[in-house]
Amino acid sequence: MAGPAGRSPDEEALLQKAMRVLPGGVLGGYYAPQEFAFVVREAHGPRLHDFSGREYIDYILGSGPLVLGHAHPAVVAAVEAQLRKGTTYFQLSEPTLSLAEEICRAVPCAEQVRFCGSGSEATFFALRVARTARQRDKILKFEGGYHGAHDYSMMSSAPRSPKAFPAPVPDSSGIPQVLEDQVLIAPYNDLATVEGIVATHADELAAVIIEPFQRLIPPQPGFLQGLREITRRHGILLVFDEVVTGFRLAYGGAQQYYGVVPDIACVGKIVGGGFPLAAVCASAELMRPFDPGQDGKGDFISQSGTLNGNPIAAVAGLATLAELRKPGAYETIFATGKRLMAGMGELLQKSGLPAQVVGEPVVFDVLFTDQPVVDYRSVQKADGALAKTFTTELIKRGVVKNTQKMYMSLVHGADDVAKTLEAYEDALKVLPRKKARDGGSR
Ligand SMILES: Cc1ncc(COP(=O)(O)O)c(C=O)c1O
Repeated sequence: MAGPAGRSPDEEALLQKAMRVLPGGVLGGYYAPQEFAFVVREAHGPRLHDFSGREYIDYILGSGPLVLGHAHPAVVAAVEAQLRKGTTYFQLSEPTLSLAEEICRAVPCAEQVRFCGSGSEATFFALRVARTARQRDKILKFEGGYHGAHDYSMMSSAPRSPKAFPAPVPDSSGIPQVLEDQVLIAPYNDLATVEGIVATHADELAAVIIEPFQRLIPPQPGFLQGLREITRRHGILLVFDEVVTGFRLAYGGAQQYYGVVPDIACVGKIVGGGFPLAAVCASAELMRPFDPGQDGKGDFISQSGTLNGNPIAAVAGLATLAELRKPGAYETIFATGKRLMAGMGELLQKSGLPAQVVGEPVVFDVLFTDQPVVDYRSVQKADGALAKTFTTELIKRGVVKNTQKMYMSLVHGADDVAKTLEAYEDALKVLPRKKARDGGSR
């Protein structure tokens, strides 16, 4: 007998197991409302298949790495070949060196890379590089910016009750209170306020870390350029967290797309082709403290990881990057994204709901507000409850996305766009009609 929402007994049993062995029955990060939760059986291209035989168009795509879609033949072939040669060495290997070389070729600020296992690790170690170079401890980050799960990142990335700038609000329990003194918070896209905070704290600051494209919000013209100028003037290091934007906005990431080169960049997601791999990238001079030859010299940065530069991840990353280098790859993703954004925009306008599509054609979503969206506080004014309802209504109609993010890929085709827009139109019809109101939205 089918369970809730047409669920098969097998899927029901798996979800019950999840409730027993995982807190809240989830992995952390994304979760669907319990009634519409499902268990993935397999995934191909842009589609997920669950244990009840249902199919979904997937705009989560592993939370971003799968810009080629699921189980891309080039990635599968590369991984299968490498599997037979060994899965991890904790030693140099050819694929790892080739990937390092390719990152240095692609990413403007990269002369050298240090591999690690996740985007969170990359931003954590990038801050260590900045502190070492600057011999200062504090960092400035932006309200609403997310740099992974570590203690420095989880400050005002999604505060329910933001404080006056530059005071941080911890996003999680378990963060040592002393760290609140180490992190300053500024509003994204507000250069004047950033300039004031930096001027006051310049002598304590090691780095400014930023998602150049923050969650869904593009930088306003001149903002990143201004940030580059301010940090350079004060000798503070500028860190671009390119875990999402790297190889997505352009092959050279946000640095290439927006034309601003930071001192340090973190790449993750796409560069590991769906496997655990990320990297800190910077000039050889900034990276020198990672060199074991520096051990005992005072500025040595200790960084080790069991899976650093894992060869399976490296071949998956190399296969993914090779597809992205093919002529027309980015044009294709951007064109599909633009078509979907435009279609969504038209449907929202027809619906009469106060809403807009925010983002760049490779990653975007709907925000239920008609006010300009320029920073976290303007995102907070959007109707977050309505966004959640909408996301659930889309799951019911076979479209899976995060509450505030749709990742585009090379394999979303015209058919996916058409079916997604049908689902949108249908889901918009059942949304309650009311004015946008204040409320949490993440
Ligand atoms: C901008 C950004 N930085 C860092 C991270 C953390 O990466 P990971 O989940 O691989 O630790 C994420 C994850 O979504 C991210 O979006």
